[in-house]
Amino acid sequence: MHLKRHSPQTLGSDLGEIKLKSPAIKTALPGPQASKWISTDRTYVSPSYSRIYPLVVKKAQGVWVQDMDDNIFLDFTAGIAACATGHCHPRVVKAIKEQAERLVHMSGTDFYYAPQIALAEKLASLAPGEGDKKVYFGNSGAEAVEAAFKLARYHTRGELNIAFFGAFHGRTMGALSLTASKTIQKKHYYPFVPGITHIPYAYCYRCPYNLCYPRCGVECVRWVEDTLFRTTMPPEQVAAIFVEPIQGEGGYIVPPPEFHARLYEIARELLSRPDAAKLGGDKREVAILISDLRNFTSISESVSPEATITILNRYFSHMIQVIQGHRGIVVDFFGDGVLVFFDPLGGPIAPAIHQAVQCALEMQKEMGSFNSEIKKHGLPELAMGVGLNAGQVVVGNIGSEARAKYGIVGSAVNVTQRIQEVAKGGEVVLTESILQRAKQVLIINRSFELKLKGIRKPVKLHVVQP
Ligand SMILES: Cc1ncc(COP(=O)(O)O)c(C=O)c1O
Repeated sequence: MHLKRHSPQTLGSDLGEIKLKSPAIKTALPGPQASKWISTDRTYVSPSYSRIYPLVVKKAQGVWVQDMDDNIFLDFTAGIAACATGHCHPRVVKAIKEQAERLVHMSGTDFYYAPQIALAEKLASLAPGEGDKKVYFGNSGAEAVEAAFKLARYHTRGELNIAFFGAFHGRTMGALSLTASKTIQKKHYYPFVPGITHIPYAYCYRCPYNLCYPRCGVECVRWVEDTLFRTTMPPEQVAAIFVEPIQGEGGYIVPPPEFHARLYEIARELLSRPDAAKLGGDKREVAILISDLRNFTSISESVSPEATITILNRYFSHMIQVIQGHRGIVVDFFGDGVLVFFDPLGGPIAPAIHQAVQCALEMQKEMGSFNSEIKKHGLPELAMGVGLNAGQVVVGNIGSEARAKYGIVGSAVNVTQRIQEVAKGGEVVLTESILQRAKQVLIINRSFELKLKGIRKPVKLHVVQP
């Protein structure tokens, strides 16, 4: 429903025709009438409502609010955003009146209402995201959270949930269990719903990991996979991640753009590989990328160990950002090398290959800004070689019960390592299997056949210009 902006100039007949251009405060606050109501409220209304302002509202229209003593206020709260049309918008009032005259209640949970169905249809058409949608009508935010909590458990049969420090999800028992905004909201209500782990939100201004965006590579999300899922939280038991798009009560924190996209990726992966934490895995074709710095061993001998660590940290921050931006899954760092794979997750391999090629080219471009950064610190410039391959590997948790990590194994990984070794600084070298299926237009600098150690047939390789 599109409502025209409504800015009434008057507040109605009992105020006279006052032109409202600014607030009008006539009494000390609260005024005598408001004070009486507040006193009666104290006697009869639950003290659980934690009001801070002694405003007793009589009526409101548009942006103007009139209290019991006829003081007029400019409303910045809009009913905590529930009256986004402005107070008592004529079309909203008309719809309420018409409905109240026709039918007040039958219970939409037991019978059908045409307006309820029509509204669901409208909301489903407006809601973002792909696929079909259905609408659940609830009374409040907390009730919506409770419903989501139950639905996630029902659907996944998982017992564990992730929520964020600073989050406010409501005050009912489940929603409060997810809330981690102020201890006073939780004091004396323990124990809460079990299986909830709170983790730091993407609060870049006061980064909980003491890192800087974007160089951090959105560590706050990476940490979920690298630490949480490896140490305390078996991913196959995770039912849901509860997260505010912009954290509200926690401080009105706008996360960086990748934050939600990356969390979504994790959620998608959890849903698509529910057995992720079990040892072993599935055999499937993936795109594999290995990058390595050229001559880094000799360069690191010419600088201090502190400078070596600085170079590596900065290098990894730049590269990880690019890798994660292309949905690459970092398996391992070995010295200055990085092993990454692109998982089609049950779909066709072509999009994963596309992402891998795009990622490799952008990693080479990113070396430009990495080098200008380290040059400013008087450190030597570096060059990187990248190898790209596609092949059958086992994707899963590799290791022992005591120590396992999500990764890939298979001869295709070893082949990629050999290919990477032939890439000169600044080059991306890829196999025929990548070239044949890459969707983007690629400029091939040179092609050659190479006999790789341990592989019988020579492999056709192509050097691509970034
Ligand atoms: C992000 C968020 N979730 C849930 C709630 C709870 O909503 P309600 O007070 O309608 O139960 C709020 C309320 O402020 C909220 O800000």
